[in-house]
Amino acid sequence: MSWMAVIGLLAAASLGAGDNAEGLKIYAERCAVCHGRAMEGAEEGPPLTGPSFDATWRGKRAALRERIRRSMPQDQPGSLTGRQAIALAALLLGRSSSGH
Ligand code: HEC
Repeated sequence: MSWMAVIGLLAAASLGAGDNAEGLKIYAERCAVCHGRAMEGAEEGPPLTGPSFDATWRGKRAALRERIRRSMPQDQPGSLTGRQAIALAALLLGRSSSGH
């Protein structure tokens, strides 16, 4: 395992993403370009963390998974497997709940 991967995993653990290495990997490869490396949002996509995201999606993991699977990545919707969408939904909800 490279040092970058180790640092990434440590960061994930401290953010409350637990052992969701799969979600983190897919996020970095397929989502970060539009939503920002730390889910903070970017020119091409809204933030996937913070109060507004929380208000929409907290406690709605199944709905979030479906939303992701059907519509994201926006430039290639429908290209994720169900398993990948589950990992991403868990990642986003775990992340925005960190500290709570
Ligand atoms: C090409 C740019 C792009 C990529 C890549 C992309 N998104 Fe998005 N995403 C958007 C845009 C633009 C929106 C807002 C418009 C919309 O909902 O379609 C959005 C909206 C969302 C929303 C709804 C946010 C809310 O506040 O309700 C979620 C969840 C989401 N994206 C997750 C993802 C995930 C997970 C990935 C990686 C698999 C991803 N996106 C990849 C551009 C992108």
